[in-house]
Amino acid sequence: MTDTTAAEDVIFPRNVRLSEDGDAVVIIDQTQLPGRLVYEELRTPEAMYDAIKKLKVRGAPAIGIAAGYCAYVLARQIAARTPEPTGDEFLAEFERQCAYLNSSRPTAVNLSWALNRLLGVAKANAASASLPRIVELLGAEARAIHEEDIRMCTAISEYGLSLLHPGDGVLTHCNAGPLATSKYGTGQGPLFLAQERGFGLHVFADETRPLLQGARLTSYELSRAGVDVTLICDNMASIVMKNGWVQACMVGCDRVAMNGDAANKIGTSGVAILAAHYGIPFYVLGPTSTIDRACPTGDDITIELRDPAEIREMWYAEPMAPADVKTYNPSFDVTDHELITAIVTEKGICRPPYTESLAALFA
Ligand code: MRU
Repeated sequence: MTDTTAAEDVIFPRNVRLSEDGDAVVIIDQTQLPGRLVYEELRTPEAMYDAIKKLKVRGAPAIGIAAGYCAYVLARQIAARTPEPTGDEFLAEFERQCAYLNSSRPTAVNLSWALNRLLGVAKANAASASLPRIVELLGAEARAIHEEDIRMCTAISEYGLSLLHPGDGVLTHCNAGPLATSKYGTGQGPLFLAQERGFGLHVFADETRPLLQGARLTSYELSRAGVDVTLICDNMASIVMKNGWVQACMVGCDRVAMNGDAANKIGTSGVAILAAHYGIPFYVLGPTSTIDRACPTGDDITIELRDPAEIREMWYAEPMAPADVKTYNPSFDVTDHELITAIVTEKGICRPPYTESLAALFA
């Protein structure tokens, strides 16, 4: 299904939603942007797994929102089977499907976080409620995850904006805007809010090799919103900082450890090292759902390794490397907490020492 008329949708897109009949999850296929605005309906576990794995739906919060709706759609399908499953059979199959979805990508904690929320609802009600009632409760939980994300992104954007000044230059990496979340975004949320309030920011968007989320998605979203955005290659961050054009760096996150180490798109830690060199504040922005309380340090974060084709040939008119050249294609890196000036959440701005300020969020 293609819709090229929904220009406003692209600024604050309904990038993930439930279909009218509740039988499918409808996503914007982000791999087709900026060339085509294509919506895809996900109806089977395989299509859902594939959409997350191939980054059709991507960005930690958006993955969590999608996972919630996907689990709900699958729960409906299991409950509708003939003969009707018993409560135990429903729960066993629902757990199996959630585990399958959870295996699609390892780093963004929002995936397991959202699936565990729905599993928790199913388990808590399995003994006492009918299957239709459990399914109804799962639908409400999936919608709650989405609505909470909208509120969290709005609050994060407000806190983030309080760290900026009119006319500032801001460098960002990857895509942590509306497409990666619900509304506004996290790492780029303050930039949209600043635009609404006439801050006149100048944004530098790293292209973000190899999947080019910065070039394809961030520069697209920001320019459509009227933000003064300049696209740069990843290896140009240093020169724009040295030129004095950057007063702050803002990025999203996929998993934050309790000591403040933050996993985000590959290349983020390099930006943080450059920012430290030039004395530029480096801010990580994300909802508390991205903070992994079971993860003490960045060393405990699993880094996703991806297809060599993303480096050798994807996006090029013809392959740009020998077909059999050895590759190393980690999708994320971990920025050391010592390089992070502040971690901005919907509950407030956390400063070092993060072992204390992050723990206080959950006290
Ligand atoms: O592999 P992706 O595109 O899902 O990675 C996304 C990022 O690293 C984002 O910067 C991060 O998830 C924050 S999204 C608000």
